[in-house]
Amino acid sequence: MSSAQIRFFTCFLADWIQICPILDEVFRATFTSLPCPESYVSLISRESESALEGGVLAEVLEPGVFKGVATTTINKLIKAGFTTVESIAVTPPRELADVAGMGADTALKVCRLARLQVDPGFIPALEVLEMRRSMIKCKTGSKELDRILGGGIETGAITELIGEYGSGKTQICFTLSVTAQLPVEEGGFGSNVCAIDTEGTFMPERVMQIAEERGLDPTKILEGILVARAYNSEHQQILIGSLAELVEKSNVKLVIVDSMIGHFRGEYIGRGTLSERQQKLGSCLSHLLRVAEAFNVAVVITNQVMSTPDVVYGDPNKPTGGHVMAHACTHRVYLRKGKQNTRLARVIDSPSLPEERIRFAITAAGVEDSEE
Ligand code: GTP
Ligand code: MG
Repeated sequence: MSSAQIRFFTCFLADWIQICPILDEVFRATFTSLPCPESYVSLISRESESALEGGVLAEVLEPGVFKGVATTTINKLIKAGFTTVESIAVTPPRELADVAGMGADTALKVCRLARLQVDPGFIPALEVLEMRRSMIKCKTGSKELDRILGGGIETGAITELIGEYGSGKTQICFTLSVTAQLPVEEGGFGSNVCAIDTEGTFMPERVMQIAEERGLDPTKILEGILVARAYNSEHQQILIGSLAELVEKSNVKLVIVDSMIGHFRGEYIGRGTLSERQQKLGSCLSHLLRVAEAFNVAVVITNQVMSTPDVVYGDPNKPTGGHVMAHACTHRVYLRKGKQNTRLARVIDSPSLPEERIRFAITAAGVEDSEE
């Protein structure tokens, strides 16, 4: 089967999941075995299988951690992508039971055992400070933007880029896909990047141009970016659910979801579906935050704005996703179009950063400081 046929088939199948939920199980099983070049899911399932072949607990889960838990349960966990104690410890037992297909009591027991390994309970605030020092920051390409972000995009947090069309959200993501691969001493994470593309806007040619303009090897940069195209919100959830294993195995320190909300807005139409949409969106966001915290990874998501016609003074646009989005994201950056190639950025909600507005530019090198 050619890659175009595979893409058509997976897209068609993914769309049908929305109409016929019974296909969900078939979809999950099929998708994880397709040799689709745009999806890294097949890679994950192969790795999980080899972990199982190697005697269940070997390498991935330390023997002794889950004393008294049946081997079949451990197998289920690994098959569902929970191959590290951290990923189990940070997942709510109910979700563990759903995803791995086990009883509620077993999920609770497994969760408690995992938490004993990784969660020390109450700790002095000084230790929290030490932990925050292990956090690293990646430069965005614009020194001014880095400055209002307290040095760049940080690990262990979700940074949300909000803005109307053409405001530069995707261009910032492209530039970060390049800069994150720089060594830590040069302002990067020295790691690979994972991008979940929900709108089909990931352009390798543009990423190559940004890399070339920055004097980097474009082919190497593309090799360091794992891209998955999410065809609908259900598929997006599956991809986000598989991140815990991917970031660990593939040395990923930056996860991008561009855009976070597009599919949710397109699929859940009308007031009657709002609470279900918000619940699913919230579940995706809390999973992303757990991945960010458990693996010290930076998560960058993009969000759109919607127009509020009743606003008489000021900006009539406001971020989509409501309170769920606002609460889940650590730092929120609001972007607006400026003159010519310039854009305005403002931190609008952050527990550690003051509200400040700066100007940056979109150029051949991606995101840079504006000359103005
Ligand atoms: P939506 O995804 O539509 O919501 O918008 P966005 O905020 O993601 O917009 P994006 O980041 O894609 O910015 C698009 C803008 O970037 C365009 O309007 C161009 O002005 C600029 N741009 C895109 N590609 C290039 C390029 O190769 N060179 C330069 N100089 N500018 C570019
Ligand atoms: Mg975009």
